[in-house]
Amino acid sequence: MNNNSNFIDCQNISKSFEQKGEIIVPVLQDLNFCVEERELLVILGPGQSGKSTLLRLIAGLEKPDAGRILMRGSSITGPGADRGLVFQNYMLFPWLSVLGNVAAGLNIRNRRAAHSAERLNAAQLRDKAMHYLSMVGLADFASYHPHQLSGGMKQRVGIARAYALEPEVMLFDEPFGQLDAQTRLNLELETERIWQNNKCTMIFVTNNIDEAILLADRIIILDGKLPGRLASIHNVPFPRPRDNMDVHFLRLREEITAVQKIYI
Ligand SMILES: Nc1ncnc2c1ncn2[C@@H]1O[C@H](COP(=O)(O)OP(=O)(O)OP(=O)(O)O)[C@@H](O)[C@H]1O
Ligand SMILES: [Mg+2]
Repeated sequence: MNNNSNFIDCQNISKSFEQKGEIIVPVLQDLNFCVEERELLVILGPGQSGKSTLLRLIAGLEKPDAGRILMRGSSITGPGADRGLVFQNYMLFPWLSVLGNVAAGLNIRNRRAAHSAERLNAAQLRDKAMHYLSMVGLADFASYHPHQLSGGMKQRVGIARAYALEPEVMLFDEPFGQLDAQTRLNLELETERIWQNNKCTMIFVTNNIDEAILLADRIIILDGKLPGRLASIHNVPFPRPRDNMDVHFLRLREEITAVQKIYI
């Protein structure tokens, strides 16, 4: 089955958390949306609106209390190599080199492979990790360790690590929030270029309107009050690369700002 219009289908998703053993915090309520194959979908919402929770549900790291998430018509019941995750706070292994970090998932996959034919030998594994490290411009830093890198470089390693497993869907959780404006813009443009070259489906979480409009085919807005509900959906039809002073860009920013004001 390959229904392109609902490659990923979130149906009536609700999620609550218990805090301090008793208080129930309703985080997401009755969310419905689809993601198309090869789409770059941005989920936009302010802090603590449930964005990471939603992404973790799609990653299979959490289970919804109600509703279900389908990928190609099958329920997502746990994490899988078909979905790569780039974290909000890098999450690199400090004891491994940059190359070791990028190869970490490949190593695990190798160990788990049931048949030796599915395993990469050491040279293949290194080549693949180097390929993705080059893709993010860090080939010369393969032997460095995370503490020797800037924040932007760390996030590049995280991106290479997720791509190295060649997932069908890339999930980005506010990956550039901790970076300065110039590094952030460079990485946004790089992310767009990588997506255009690889064309795997991308779901990108952010709290930044400009980042959302720069990257998205479509933007989903979470309303900002818990439990998070879907406030609106916006198509971004104008061509790439986009200019944040362009009249279409400014008009959409105004439209989205107006939606967000309603929910403050
Ligand atoms: N495992 C958990 N246990 C208890 N509460 C949780 C858990 N995960 C998230 N929450 C709560 O859910 C709410 C939304 O958190 P979430 O991390 O999804 O928001 P967010 O939009 O990603 O925020 P930010 O922009 O700050 O990253 C918060 O109130 C948080 O405390
Ligand atoms: Mg978050």
